Amino acid sequence: MRRATIIGWGAYTPPAVLSNADLETVIDTNDEWITTRSGIKERRISHVSNAEMATAASRRALAAAGVDASDIDLVVVATCTPDRALPSVAAYVQRQLGGLGATMDLNAACSGFVYALSVADGMIAAGTVNRALVIGAERLSSYLDLTDRTTAVLFGDGAGAVVVEATEGPEGLLASNLHSDGSLTEILTIRGGGTENVFDDAIPLTVAMEGREIFRHAVTRMGEGTTTAIETADLEIEDVDVLISHQANIRIIDATAKRLKVSPEKVYTNIHAYGNTSAASIPIALSEALDQGVIEPGNIVAMVAFGGGLTWGAAVLRWGERTTRLGDADHGLPDTDKTGLQLLRERAQGLGVQ
Ligand SMILES: CC(C)(COP(=O)(O)OP(=O)(O)OC[C@H]1O[C@@H](n2cnc3c(N)ncnc32)[C@H](O)[C@@H]1OP(=O)(O)O)[C@@H](O)C(=O)NCCC(=O)NCCS
Repeated sequence: MRRATIIGWGAYTPPAVLSNADLETVIDTNDEWITTRSGIKERRISHVSNAEMATAASRRALAAAGVDASDIDLVVVATCTPDRALPSVAAYVQRQLGGLGATMDLNAACSGFVYALSVADGMIAAGTVNRALVIGAERLSSYLDLTDRTTAVLFGDGAGAVVVEATEGPEGLLASNLHSDGSLTEILTIRGGGTENVFDDAIPLTVAMEGREIFRHAVTRMGEGTTTAIETADLEIEDVDVLISHQANIRIIDATAKRLKVSPEKVYTNIHAYGNTSAASIPIALSEALDQGVIEPGNIVAMVAFGGGLTWGAAVLRWGERTTRLGDADHGLPDTDKTGLQLLRERAQGLGVQ
């Protein structure tokens, strides 16, 4: 059966760090609370646009695959933080990389990468596409409210990308499922910025969230989604070699693994370093897991995510023979000597906020 297999991977995590100690200087929080409640020690704040991060991750993914941008039939960027309403981040990625394939963004919030991978797989199975660049890229720091300690400590910026191509072999995406419960739209939202409120300055351009509610739904739904994907792939939970969950909260990741009875050593996490990078979190984690030799040839890898909507989705794939890069590429972006806090402060001043 024709399906998608991952042949290249890459990530871009901005250099500017925002540590828990930095946050302690601006909001009423502390390292101990953030670490025990979320597992986060620091996150990155981007000095470049979402599309530039997405392009940087893509350059590395294309080099790892040994594929030129002109051979890509589809660029899909999972994001809820596009640089502009129009055109898509994907169009800007193509502008940087070249090529004439289809470009589109997909917004399923933090579940976006699993959604985008599944969409690319479906288009490959249908024969519409042979090779796709599937990216998760987010700049959620633009929507951080530094006066709200319940959300400001959780999110960070970054991008991850994979190149997928058609295969008829045993490797590739074995199963995926995507879901959403529209009755829960209001528990995680950014009310400003869209056409509903575009002329209303009173509507905040910041993340609003009901943390406990999200937590509860996330653990249940991620467990269900993963179980279904494993069953659809005709596998058992013991067959999973590596579980990569959306990196939102270490307690959610641990509770999901426990519910699934996946042993902790099979769970890859990097939330301590990047916080919640939304749709970018799984491709960043996948890329790091591969570069650290965590994923071996033939491994069964399960990915599962949840996010605003409330969306959730899971994918199970069998890795192919190659777990090393064919090549690597410079990210091609300027460096910055600013700290994450400096970047956030500059942005807030630009918006007239102290
Ligand atoms: C946000 C989250 C970490 C909060 O953890 P929690 O254990 O549920 O904590 P609560 O919200 O019950 O708050 C407990 C206390 O800590 C306080 N608190 C909240 N944020 C704090 C912070 N950054 N620093 C210090 N104290 C904080 C609260 O005010 C509350 O104080 P109170 O008991 O005096 O009222 C957790 O609910 C979570 O991760 N939810 C999921 C969020 C998520 O993943 N969102 C993205 C989805 S993709």
